[in-house]
Amino acid sequence: MTAEMFPKEKTIDLRKKHIGPSCKVFFSHDPIKIVRAKGQYMFDENGVRYLDCINNVAHVGHSHPMVVKAGAEQMELLNTNSRFLHDNLVQYAQRLQATLPEKLSVCYFVNSGSEANDLALRLAWEYTGHKDVITLDNAYHGHVSSLINISPYKFHQLANAEQSKSVHVALSPDLYRGNYRQDHPDPATAYADDVNNLIQKAHEKGHKVAAFIAESLQSCGGQVIPPAGYFQKVAQHVHQAGGLFIADEVQVGFGRVGTHFWAFQLQGEDFVPDIVTMGKPIGNGHPMSCVVTTREVAEAFKNSGMEYFNTFGGNPVSCAIGLAVLDVIEKEDLQGNALRVGGYLMRLLEQQKEKHPLVGDIRGRGLFVGAELVRDRVKLTPATAEAQDIIYKLKEQHILLSADGPHRNVLKFKPPMCFSEEDADMVVEKIDQILTDIEKALGLQMPSTVHTENGSHKRNVQPEENGCHHSNGIGHSRDTSQQHASQQNKRLRP
Ligand SMILES: Cc1ncc(COP(=O)(O)O)c(C=O)c1O
Repeated sequence: MTAEMFPKEKTIDLRKKHIGPSCKVFFSHDPIKIVRAKGQYMFDENGVRYLDCINNVAHVGHSHPMVVKAGAEQMELLNTNSRFLHDNLVQYAQRLQATLPEKLSVCYFVNSGSEANDLALRLAWEYTGHKDVITLDNAYHGHVSSLINISPYKFHQLANAEQSKSVHVALSPDLYRGNYRQDHPDPATAYADDVNNLIQKAHEKGHKVAAFIAESLQSCGGQVIPPAGYFQKVAQHVHQAGGLFIADEVQVGFGRVGTHFWAFQLQGEDFVPDIVTMGKPIGNGHPMSCVVTTREVAEAFKNSGMEYFNTFGGNPVSCAIGLAVLDVIEKEDLQGNALRVGGYLMRLLEQQKEKHPLVGDIRGRGLFVGAELVRDRVKLTPATAEAQDIIYKLKEQHILLSADGPHRNVLKFKPPMCFSEEDADMVVEKIDQILTDIEKALGLQMPSTVHTENGSHKRNVQPEENGCHHSNGIGHSRDTSQQHASQQNKRLRP
């Protein structure tokens, strides 16, 4: 099969001519043309191989043969809408349910993360009879109108954007840069109280809350890991107000966090959302997504009297692909790999933090990892330009990484789940070199004492202690900077 139809320049010209100018392209100053991909690698039109640290969509690896085969075989046989009975649909729903707490037993199949979140809102509105939605600051939940409204990541981009009166933005539970940090005695309660305050303010205005929606770990918002217990406390407040808890697992679900299949499970077994939305990894690149909820919520939606029909949602091909993805996760122990390789990557990055003043924070779970870059560890001045510099320099060295968060200064790792320790070594070794060059050019040096400033919360911490901040049970190296310097050109095995 010819992978390239036009020379790259022509592809760029045609894109400019025929594709909406606001459609985002990676590395817009010098976009890359990818013509094929396999596992965790992508290949451009000249056959150059790129290590992919970006694509959580290609969850079990690009073009996985089992997934491709399952889709092709089903396409040869039948594809039609879900108004006919088909075993793939019910089998997939059954398999998916087995990964979830028992009460989450009813599925609606849709085609994108946006569709899933939009439907989740409809379910909540119908079940509660309320209208208002509480969302987290810097959140992104999708591109349709109802979701732009609840996505500060997007509506903050518009200077004169008017926030909908039925949308309330809660503090992002960010323990590094947020209002309540690692040194706070009980950040989970403090952040949950903020949600409760919003509920009370809405009530004072005669509004009622239908739902609280949050990613189980915030991705576009800057790879934020909420403190354990936060969701339980929020759910308590939201339920008391008659609302529902929606967990958006579009980015972080399907074993990525390593210890659990779903990221909301990191909060503890006593927490179960009322609605879970899924997307991206579910079909390994095939457009497919799902909303799972309780029987009670589903019955209320039915009782509204309006039938639900979705032309492509849950078609036999999508479900065959979804089943193959679940099979591969299991067969190749990709959740286990995420735990092992993610932990390894975190340890390598922690070493970078001890060596490089620009690295302010390392946080993550499994193969969902963020490295926040700051120009100043006291003021937490975002190192936005430096983060951009790093991702462009990595690209020149054939590694694809993105920077995100409200200041676009968080290096964001969410590679296909077959990512290996060798891949982690390679990317961190290159980041190490680039950071060394940037810091040399800026004259930045590692401070001997780090003083973290946070309004009323101030503390003095030694760099070593700093390395423990986002402990996920994985130990971190206490090597000195000098030892690291001598390791610079070696593989960075902790
Ligand atoms: C957390 C989250 N929810 C929902 C969506 C929307 O998904 P889609 O682009 O498939 O509509 C995205 C997309 O990036 C996302 O990151």
